[in-house]
Amino acid sequence: MHSKFKTIIEPFRIKMVEPIKMTTLSERKKYLEEAAYNLFQIRAENILIDLLTDSGTGAMSAAQWGKMMEGDESYAGCKSFYDMKDAVVDLTGYKHVFPTHQGRAAERILFSCIGGEGKIILNNTHFDTTRANVEYTKAEAIDLVIDEGRDPSSLHPFKGNMDLVKLENTLKQYAGSDRVQMCMMTITNNSGGGQPVSMQNIRETKAICQKYKIPFFLDACRFAENAYFIKQREDGFKNKAIKQIVQEMFSYADGCTMSAKKDAIVNMGGFLAFNDDNLAIGVQNMLILTEGFSTYGGLSGRDLAALAQGLKEVVDEDYLEYRIVSTQYLGNALIEMGVPVVRPIGGHAVYIDAKAMLPHISALQYPGQALACALYLEGGIRSVEIGSFMFGSYDKKTGAEIPSKMELVRLAIPRRVYTQSHIDFVIEVIAEVNKNKNALRGYKVVEQPPFLRHFSAKLKKL
Ligand code: F0G
Repeated sequence: MHSKFKTIIEPFRIKMVEPIKMTTLSERKKYLEEAAYNLFQIRAENILIDLLTDSGTGAMSAAQWGKMMEGDESYAGCKSFYDMKDAVVDLTGYKHVFPTHQGRAAERILFSCIGGEGKIILNNTHFDTTRANVEYTKAEAIDLVIDEGRDPSSLHPFKGNMDLVKLENTLKQYAGSDRVQMCMMTITNNSGGGQPVSMQNIRETKAICQKYKIPFFLDACRFAENAYFIKQREDGFKNKAIKQIVQEMFSYADGCTMSAKKDAIVNMGGFLAFNDDNLAIGVQNMLILTEGFSTYGGLSGRDLAALAQGLKEVVDEDYLEYRIVSTQYLGNALIEMGVPVVRPIGGHAVYIDAKAMLPHISALQYPGQALACALYLEGGIRSVEIGSFMFGSYDKKTGAEIPSKMELVRLAIPRRVYTQSHIDFVIEVIAEVNKNKNALRGYKVVEQPPFLRHFSAKLKKL
C-alpha cells in the first residue's frame, strides 16, 4: 500500500497471544553451559526472542486456522490435497505435486531418485540440508553463485544470481558424461545472506540448462520474497503483480522443492512439484515408502488446507512490503551503529558479518558462534551461526579443518510474529554486545556427529 505516511504498518492485528518468559543473566549463563554452547540445545521456553529461524515459526492467519477446521482427513484423495495441489499449480504450473512433511523430505526423495555415486548437482548455493541430502547419496554438490554473493559488502542487487560463466564451464566440462543430474537455484539464496535472484538470471540459467539438456529446479522456499525483490529492483517488473512475477519465475524451471514452513506460512509442510512423468513414478514410490500415500505425504489434511491458504496470502503485496521492510528496519539499525552486516539486507533475515566484527577470533575458533552465544547471554536472543561451525569440513587427505568462506550470524525473522518493539529490543542488545565485543572469546568443538554437526555438537569456551 502506498500511503502518504512513511511508517509501514504490520498489515494485521493480533487476536491470540503467547506469553514469553523473562530470564535472568545467571539463568541464561546456566542454560548456555548446560547446552554446551550450542543454541539448538536450549529449550525454547528459555529464549526471549527467537530468531533462530523463519522456518515453521510464522503465525498463521485466522483464515488459515479456519481452513484447518475444514481439513479433510481421508487417507486417500482428500479434498485438502486437491485444494493444495490447485494452489501449487496456480503458482507454478507444474503437472505433478507431491506433499512432503517438510522441505528436506522433498530433497531426500528427489536425490534418492536422481543422485548417487559420481553424480553431480549444481546450485547457486546449496542450503545445508540440501547439500547433506545430495552428499548422503554420495553425489557431489557444487555451488556456483556469482562472486559478489560471497562478498558481504558488495551492494549487487541480486547477489543470489548464478554465475553463468561458471555454470556453462561446469556443464561443458562434464558434457556427455551423464554426471550432472540437475541444476538447482535457491530463491532467495539463504546460505548467501537471503539474497534474491533476478528474473533475467533465472531465464538465462534455464537457457544454459536447456542447451545441455539438464533439468532445472528451484529450491523455492522463499519464492514470494524473491518476487518482491524482483518487483523492487529489476527493470520491467514495477507494475506487475507479485503473483504474475511468481508465475513467470516458476515458468522457467522444470520443477521445484519447497519447504512450506517459509513462504507458505505454515508450521509444518513441504512439497515436490515438477513436470517429468518418469521422475514422477520414482518419486511417488519413494513418497509412499517413506512419507505416506501420495495425497497426504506425511501431512494431515488440515496441514494441507493451511498450506493452500498460506500460498494465497504470501503473494499479497502489503504482506510482503511489511515483511521486507521490517527485516530492513533491523538491518539498517545495525548498519547505523557500525555493526558489519551482509548488504543489501536480505529478505527473511539479517546476517551479521562476524569475521569483520570480531577480527580477534580466528575462523576455526568460530567467531559467529561466539557472537551468537553472546546475544543469548546478554538478552535471551537466539540466532544461528552460519560459518565454519555450521559448514565444518575437513581436508580429505590431511584431515585438517577447512574454514568457511564467510562467518555469519543470522537473525531470522519469523513471519507475522514479532512487533517493532521486540525488534527495537534486539537492536539494543546487539548495541550492548557490540560495545563489549573485544572481550568475546572463541570456541572449540569437543564432540560432534558425522553430518550437520551444528545441530548437536558440543563446544567449549576458549
Ligand atoms: N532449502 C532452503 C533454502 C532452506 O532454507 C531450508 C530450510 C530447506 C531447504 C529445508 O527445508 O527445513 O523444511 O526441511 N531452512 C531452515 C532455515 C531450516 O532455518 O533456514 P526444511
